Amino acid sequence: MDLFLKDKIILITGSSSGLGFATAQQLVQEGAIIIINGRDKKRLTDAKEKLDAIPNAQVIAIAGDVSAVDFAAKVVNEIEYHFGGLDILITNAGGPPAGSLDDFSDEEWQNAINSTFLSHLRLIRAAKPLLMKSTTPCILTITSAAVKQPMPNMILSNSIRAATVGLTKTLANELGPAGIRVNSILPGWTDTERVQHLMQTRATKNNTSIDEEYHKQAFESPLKRIGKPEEFARVATFLVSPAASYINGVMLVVDGGLNKGLL
Ligand SMILES: NC(=O)c1ccc[n+]([C@@H]2O[C@H](COP(=O)([O-])OP(=O)(O)OC[C@H]3O[C@@H](n4cnc5c(N)ncnc54)[C@H](OP(=O)(O)O)[C@@H]3O)[C@@H](O)[C@H]2O)c1
Repeated sequence: MDLFLKDKIILITGSSSGLGFATAQQLVQEGAIIIINGRDKKRLTDAKEKLDAIPNAQVIAIAGDVSAVDFAAKVVNEIEYHFGGLDILITNAGGPPAGSLDDFSDEEWQNAINSTFLSHLRLIRAAKPLLMKSTTPCILTITSAAVKQPMPNMILSNSIRAATVGLTKTLANELGPAGIRVNSILPGWTDTERVQHLMQTRATKNNTSIDEEYHKQAFESPLKRIGKPEEFARVATFLVSPAASYINGVMLVVDGGLNKGLL
């Protein structure tokens, strides 16, 4: 099936590793023009080198922190300067730290709100004028399956992601008349650096090994394994593509069936 992604201009933030990088890789393979981003310049350069190795890759890298107030305007200005337009925006960032009620100060909550909610809002607001000029405009927010079922010891993510999903669903209605599709993917456990770090934290806390913690988590899934980044990436690639032109306002859980609820 042709996904009609060739030469589409796509910004994906938080994409020097993990789910963002896997998605960038898939989109480059589909012939899209990709703008990747991350804070650590070395990691971003390494990611760009890997993507450049894909035949006919068209990739630029823009370093920066999505939680900074002025980042969204800067990145969109740079994209307008380089390409004159933007077809697809994928908003992503690293997740907030693990912890419970007594673990975080107001300042830490505010930092988490900046990276996990306001980053999406600011990027969408800044990119809207360019997206309005595209013939196939689309926005995808990357959130978490925690929106459906809170995860233990993840109070920041469990609380703040709900706002991002609320924003996504609201914008599907507000921007739909302009032809802009707005969806979210709610990933479940998928094997990235973040998850390796979270499993290490659990292993230290429970006096177990990281392998044991992976097995325990995998056992909870009907598929008896956690996901692979490329499994997430294939779904994201389809969802943002013009081939999914009638999918709007969807909060798509990609968790291997871990969430046992009816909806
Ligand atoms: N993997 C899962 O199982 C899972 C499940 C549910 C939800 N999620 C959520 O999905 C998102 C992606 O997860 P992941 O597992 O791919 O995370 P990851 O392995 O930690 O990768 C995060 C990527 O985003 C970049 N990044 C982090 N903070 C950033 C910031 N403030 N500004 C710009 N770039 C930033 C990182 O590079 P730098 O550090 O160099 O900036 C890295 O490239 C996270 O929000 C995560 O909480 C993941």
